Amino acid sequence: MRIIKAKDYAEMSRKAANIIAAQVIAKPDCVLGLATGGTPVGTYKSLIEDWYKVGDLSFAEVTTVNLDEYRGLPRTNDQSYWYFMHENLFNHVDVRPDAVHVPNGENPDAEAACAEYDAIIKAVGGVDLQLLGIGHDGHIGFNEPADHFPVGTHCVDLTEETIEANKRFFASRDDVPRQAYTMGVGTIMNARKVLLIASGADKAEIVKKSFFGPVTPEVPASILQMHPDFTLVADEAALSLI
Ligand code: GLP
Repeated sequence: MRIIKAKDYAEMSRKAANIIAAQVIAKPDCVLGLATGGTPVGTYKSLIEDWYKVGDLSFAEVTTVNLDEYRGLPRTNDQSYWYFMHENLFNHVDVRPDAVHVPNGENPDAEAACAEYDAIIKAVGGVDLQLLGIGHDGHIGFNEPADHFPVGTHCVDLTEETIEANKRFFASRDDVPRQAYTMGVGTIMNARKVLLIASGADKAEIVKKSFFGPVTPEVPASILQMHPDFTLVADEAALSLI
């Protein structure tokens, strides 16, 4: 585990973007595993502004697979992760539209939607670099605390804590979907490199628990301690309890 300390959110975002850019420069046809949430917004902005727009980076050969999607939200809904990724990254760079993948939240058949997504990940050859945020309960993607680490893509019931945390993006709490399709912890662990970003004092407790506590499915992110190429980029506030 490598820890890179940034002084604030802006610096964390630039440092994370630099690592992603380095991956794409070293392997232009790589597979990037991408994440949503508030934390990666600055990273995507830096990739666009500091790398793509100045002509130092192209996504023309890149394939992307996103971690998760709400079950039941159409792609046109502005809270779907499909929409988020287009708004925050895909619409601003030269990635090919047919090279971006997000679980199909519009397919009500959970088993089929998840199997289809695992087949896509397999077909593209697995993930070269997986970007992650972290939930306050230690969830990665939407892998919530559990008694085991799920392997492949599966349908999850979101915890009350996650619904509460994500309601800020919706008109009301009732509008937050109760389920999601998410890549499994096994798929995340199979990524050749993993990069987790964390910012803010509200993440300090879970950062400490995840990376300096026991490895347990009760804290899903803790398994990253076992990953052979795991980098945590966090700001001073998120690292304040370490
Ligand atoms: C959601 C996403 C996660 C993300 C988490 C934290 O639940 N499914 O991938 O890491 O939120 O989000 P934030 O970065 O806004 O704290």
